[in-house]
Amino acid sequence: MKAIVYTKYGSPDVLQLREVEKPIPKDNEVLIKIIATTVNRTDCGFRKPEYIIVRLVSGLFKPKKKILGSELAGVVEAIGKNVKTFKPGDPVFGLSTFNFGTHAEYVCVAEEKSVTIKPNNMSFNEAAAVCDGAFLALANIKKIDFTNSPSILINGASGSIGSASVQFAKHFGANVTAVCNTKDFELLKLLGADEVIDYTKEDFTETGLLYDVVIDAVGKSSFFRCKKILKPGGIYFSTELGYLSQNIFLALLTPVFDGKKVLFPIPKDTKEDIVFIKELMEAGKYKAVIDRTYPFEQIVEATRYVETGLKVGNVVISI
Ligand SMILES: NC(=O)c1ccc[n+]([C@@H]2O[C@H](COP(=O)([O-])OP(=O)(O)OC[C@H]3O[C@@H](n4cnc5c(N)ncnc54)[C@H](OP(=O)(O)O)[C@@H]3O)[C@@H](O)[C@H]2O)c1
Repeated sequence: MKAIVYTKYGSPDVLQLREVEKPIPKDNEVLIKIIATTVNRTDCGFRKPEYIIVRLVSGLFKPKKKILGSELAGVVEAIGKNVKTFKPGDPVFGLSTFNFGTHAEYVCVAEEKSVTIKPNNMSFNEAAAVCDGAFLALANIKKIDFTNSPSILINGASGSIGSASVQFAKHFGANVTAVCNTKDFELLKLLGADEVIDYTKEDFTETGLLYDVVIDAVGKSSFFRCKKILKPGGIYFSTELGYLSQNIFLALLTPVFDGKKVLFPIPKDTKEDIVFIKELMEAGKYKAVIDRTYPFEQIVEATRYVETGLKVGNVVISI
């Protein structure tokens, strides 16, 4: 089968289209013929790891797993002998998470992992685009108490994690302020944002308004900058470790005291989550946000675009 292989860390040019062996499903796995996948920031972070903590997982000097790609939509081609819930021909979507391998024509995923039947009202491209941002956003969303309709400010709301965070926060009943560029106002309103702040014209930390929660989904602020816009007991989340990896230390220290705090939950994908996302999509309550779609052969160009940090939502690869 064809796959995009990388054997050393580096720029997008380390990615090469090669012929490799087609995987064979183990007893508990499904073999999926991939129709659509994505290039996301996780792929970029593993292709050129900047943090030592990533290298501990991906390989200290060179990548342990040679094929990137963590999101998929496709059709089940074969199943292992113990698989009960899928059959050949089933349209599916989901995540292979840190097993990667979806930048290829086929991938094997364990039945119990984050794959499920694709909703009928979504194309394969749309289904591939919803998984990673949603799973990373859910890690934060699950830590929020939605009982009294909290006010949540989401910075970088036009990104993959940001657009997912806006939709989940609205779904659970929050009052959402999205921070984005002028050109993305309409999109954020469509996704449910109650208020929108244009970061090119206004500093969201200087509006005088207070929030129960700040989610920085683009990692461009800090707890210390945002503390003044948090209500007493307010929570700050970021998708980046921050200067000197401060968000890890702040997440360990600040919850000990009874004040404003940083939380940095470790994302964990579950079958339950992918089924929840599927049900929201089927009910028309969750939209896929796709910026561009590239053919498989142009994955290097797609990766360069993702690395600009300018994508709106997700970048899909059509196989
Ligand atoms: N997605 C992942 O798998 C993943 C995994 C781990 C960590 N992360 C980190 O999480 C962050 C978000 O990733 P993502 O994939 O969701 O983002 P993304 O899709 O790369 O998008 C970031 C969005 O933020 C907007 N933006 C840029 N500068 C901004 C600013 N100063 N204020 C507000 N918005 C701004 C960009 O649009 P405009 O420039 O057009 O405004 C873009 O739409 C990144 O820092 C990434 O490294 C991502």
